Amino acid sequence: MSITLDTITNLSKRRGFVFPSSEIYGGLRSAYDYGPLGVQLLRNVKEEWWRSMVQLRGDVVGLDSAVLQARKVWQASGHEAVFTDPMVECRNCHTRHRVDKLTDPDLCPNCGQRGQFTEARDFNLMFRTNMGPVDSDENLVYLRPETAQGIFINYENVRTTQRLKLPFGIAQVGKSFRNEITPGQFVFRTREFEQMEMEYFCRPEEAGQWFEYWIETRSEWYRNLGMNENNLRIRKHDDDELSHYSAGTVDVEYRFPWGWDELEGIANRTDFDLRQHTEHSGQDLRYYDQEADLRFFPYVIEPAAGATRTTFAFLIDAYDEEEVRGEKRVVLRLDHRLAPYQLAVLPLSKKPELTEGAERVAAMLRPLYNLEVDVTQAIGRRYRRQDEIGTPYCITYDFDSIEDAAVTVRDRDTMEQDRVSIDRLEEYLRTKLPV
Ligand code: GAP
Repeated sequence: MSITLDTITNLSKRRGFVFPSSEIYGGLRSAYDYGPLGVQLLRNVKEEWWRSMVQLRGDVVGLDSAVLQARKVWQASGHEAVFTDPMVECRNCHTRHRVDKLTDPDLCPNCGQRGQFTEARDFNLMFRTNMGPVDSDENLVYLRPETAQGIFINYENVRTTQRLKLPFGIAQVGKSFRNEITPGQFVFRTREFEQMEMEYFCRPEEAGQWFEYWIETRSEWYRNLGMNENNLRIRKHDDDELSHYSAGTVDVEYRFPWGWDELEGIANRTDFDLRQHTEHSGQDLRYYDQEADLRFFPYVIEPAAGATRTTFAFLIDAYDEEEVRGEKRVVLRLDHRLAPYQLAVLPLSKKPELTEGAERVAAMLRPLYNLEVDVTQAIGRRYRRQDEIGTPYCITYDFDSIEDAAVTVRDRDTMEQDRVSIDRLEEYLRTKLPV
């Protein structure tokens, strides 16, 4: 179904997925806080990425590098010189716009005036700060605009300590910061966001084949987690779109409410970064092939995804509405591995014998699943709330449970109910919620 951005923004706020940051002070444009449900969904997305990219593979290891890095890193990587967007300012309303995002190069999308733009100038997207108490050029540092450079500068440490042979990858999940000129579309483009990046080092002659491999592997990851494949496509970058380091890039695109837009970039970064860091640091980062007695710079294939943006896309993709007995039912059809709660435990009423029984069931399942015990409102309304936040199964503890030591398990998608004895509940849920 097609949904609007407002629908998702409202649901996010109402149910506690995402809140505007600094809201009690009027909000801070383009910064967001993840509420109890949002943080769980985001964690699950990152966890699934890590599981598929690191845990389930023998050729990729993890890393967590610092957000603050030496300024020289960004000089070597080219970011200080060219990580810019062309920007114009409207003389009438003083809003700033990215030239490449304007649908009409002469028309201000904010005030509607024509011919008011200043000359375009390049605006560097890196946030600047100072290391230590003195505010000077010598101790200027940048907040990282990508996690990737943390991987390149640790390449030799990781390779030698882990005794890695080509091909191998280094994966990292973490915050990145970009002073975007036009943030927007809710959490799609923000100034503080999280990335999930992996640099896959290989022999230059094998780069083409690994590039294809990673396009397919990453596309499959989204499909496997339930993303509708009609909302996914691969788009190859034109030559004039390529980043300064890339010999070829494709975007995995998602059909957002405003149209197709980037979810993940997969780039052939060639040997650009290792060469640059060798030149700037003086450390030889070439790989030594003992058999051939040859030193060379490996090529790098980089699948670079946004964790916050991907979380947003899963939220949109899962959203569904249907009519049930004359009433609208909103359901988030999230894969159970992503859903904030896999289970809700609901005592039929607030009577102590039911709430105590429900708490015992919850205590048994808590070490295995993320779950919520909900005692407020009528049972029908509680089911609707759990549907709306994507909980795959609701377990109801009712008056019969006291006698038959069984509970009712309701399926979010089919709304069918099974009666399951409590001593068989773990086994039953293992089949419904596989790892
Ligand atoms: N290391 C390569 C790199 O950073 P990118 O295409 O600029 O490539 C990778 O970023 C991914 O990070 C994007 O596909 C997107 O999902 C996410 N991303 C980039 N800028 C973002 C922003 N301002 N807000 C949210 N996500 C962003």
